[in-house]
Amino acid sequence: MSFGLGHGREIDPGLGMVGVSDTELGPMPDDFLSNPGSGHVDPRGWFADPSRPFEIEIGSGKGTFLIQQADLEPETNFLGIEWAYEFYAYAADRIRRRREAGSLLNVRMLNTDATEFLRWRCPANIARVVHLYFSDPWPKTRHHKKRVIQHRFLAEAWRVLEPGGELRVVTDHDDLWAWDLAHFAQWALVDPERWLVESSRVPAPAMPDEVEKIRAKLPSPAFEMLAFDRPESAREGELVGTNFERKFREEGRGFHACVLKKRTGD
Ligand SMILES: C[S@@+](CC[C@H](N)C(=O)[O-])C[C@H]1O[C@@H](n2cnc3c(N)ncnc32)[C@H](O)[C@@H]1O
Repeated sequence: MSFGLGHGREIDPGLGMVGVSDTELGPMPDDFLSNPGSGHVDPRGWFADPSRPFEIEIGSGKGTFLIQQADLEPETNFLGIEWAYEFYAYAADRIRRRREAGSLLNVRMLNTDATEFLRWRCPANIARVVHLYFSDPWPKTRHHKKRVIQHRFLAEAWRVLEPGGELRVVTDHDDLWAWDLAHFAQWALVDPERWLVESSRVPAPAMPDEVEKIRAKLPSPAFEMLAFDRPESAREGELVGTNFERKFREEGRGFHACVLKKRTGD
């Protein structure tokens, strides 16, 4: 499939370059199903200074948010995860060109499924923020399982976030937002006056037993749900300032947004 993004040259996914290489990621061990931590690799080690705060963006698209925010926060390491190769290559090439001018040394890109990466590759308590902006809505019922927000994903996001870390969500899509809220209501302190009216539009999806067992061991609720505060990189009048937001704003669409803050029960 072509997204019509062809420009720039192929990304060299070697050490020190923008794209995370297979060597850096390492192979999945044969026993990863029976020994879930065996595939973990600390992505903070993919940056020049692994001690800096670490943030993940899921579905970076053309990389606009990543580039703008990372430019303003050179002391934070950003990993953009994009599973569509052409978008991954497009964003990584934008970053590579900025690197040649001496900036954005704090950004890497990974070409994979972010939900699988969080589940099988990420150690616990490593990310200050997981950004999820304008996630694909997958409107057909039979495709809902492809949406990023699932009970399993929320369990993994909680695990990967540092204490007090944030999952930040923005979407234009009313049905996806109702789906998100129906999930969040089982994981977060949700103000019924403010949020639950919208979630009543879809039934709360059943939580798989294996995820319920994980949630039962977490603080209850696992997250606090907060209003979305705009990142510094957003322009006047924007919520977050991604490519999709700018396109949808021109079309006059409305937006939904929130922050889920990891609670640790302290
Ligand atoms: C609608 S676009 C939004 C792109 C960007 N965040 C923006 O707002 O402009 C959603 C992006 O998420 C990517 N994506 C969807 N699910 C993904 C997943 N599980 N892992 C990594 N990327 C994903 C898609 O390929 C697509 O580029």
